[in-house]
Amino acid sequence: MLELIGRKLLQNLPTEMAHDLSIKMLASRTSILVSTKQIINPIELFGVEFANPVGLAAGFDKNADALRGLSQLGFGFIEVGTVTPKAQKGNPKPRLFRLPKNQAIINRMGFNNKGVDYLVSQIEKFKPNGILGINIGKNKTTANENAVEDYIYCFNKVAHLADYVTVNISSPNTIDLRQLQESKNLIQLLESLKNAQIELQKKTNKYTPIVVKIAPDQDKLTTKEMALNIKNSGIDGIICTNTTIKKNNLKKENHQNQTGGLSGKPLLSRSNEIIRSVREAVGDDFPIIGVGGILTDEDAMSKIRAGANLVQVYTGFIYQGTQLIKAINNKLIVQTRRK
Ligand SMILES: Cc1cc2nc3c(=O)[nH]c(=O)nc-3n(C[C@H](O)[C@H](O)[C@H](O)COP(=O)(O)O)c2cc1C
Repeated sequence: MLELIGRKLLQNLPTEMAHDLSIKMLASRTSILVSTKQIINPIELFGVEFANPVGLAAGFDKNADALRGLSQLGFGFIEVGTVTPKAQKGNPKPRLFRLPKNQAIINRMGFNNKGVDYLVSQIEKFKPNGILGINIGKNKTTANENAVEDYIYCFNKVAHLADYVTVNISSPNTIDLRQLQESKNLIQLLESLKNAQIELQKKTNKYTPIVVKIAPDQDKLTTKEMALNIKNSGIDGIICTNTTIKKNNLKKENHQNQTGGLSGKPLLSRSNEIIRSVREAVGDDFPIIGVGGILTDEDAMSKIRAGANLVQVYTGFIYQGTQLIKAINNKLIVQTRRK
């Protein structure tokens, strides 16, 4: 009930203000949000034990400010970031738009974040018991030729605190970032990251899995090539997908023509297509995390059927709240029992 009132209140505030307020509430020790019991539906992937297969996608808690509250909501894992080496403001506001008729969001945030040192200090203050992913990117002012340095810098800063690190090369809101998905750039970036991962393991005795998050907008052939490049580089998994720049077939409403990445329901089938293509390319055993357009338990199931091992939610969590996490887990438990 409290959550319902909170959600209604937040829905009537300007979108980014509502988001900032949610982060503040979740960050406070005396969170007014009702905490949920840990949902146990265990699954192992890339050597990591997840309490359940439903995660919070990157971008909600970019600076790891709200881990205290988020870790009480029943997620099996939380991904913070995208974080960049230096703090940056992101694009001018407004840059976040709700499209309720479409159960969607358009955002052009542009990696607004307080920088990797701040994120590290926040996690050092509060590290959740559950699984923590840290999503890394490059600064806007770093040219693509030097992008490798930004990713290596962030990886080395966060790896000791992360259960896995996500390499984000698929946001549509940093100019030319997606060029890093092209074969030559991708192989170069991932070889360097793989070396950094091995070097760090030698020093610290801790292996931190790396996954790469890809876009939903390339064709099937390109997706398969990308997936193979990622697998062949010795990377541990793939997250499919980020937001889409394609905005056809939207129901008419305010903001439908805003520039930025579209998330939520209209992304579901496109994102599932990418999962299918990646699964075809990499075979049965390679880890895939499916994200994009999960608004119901059935949507989550469609991702598992397409080939995902775990799922993440962002827009669905904004519209449905924590009940979505419970519903998906119930569905997936029933499904596993039936197998
Ligand atoms: C406001 C907003 C900010 C986001 N920021 C990031 C980000 O910083 N890094 C990232 O990898 N993905 C980011 N995403 C993408 C989500 O993690 C997710 O991949 C995408 O929204 C599709 O999932 P959904 O349909 O459940 O929202 C963002 C999404 C939204 C809506």
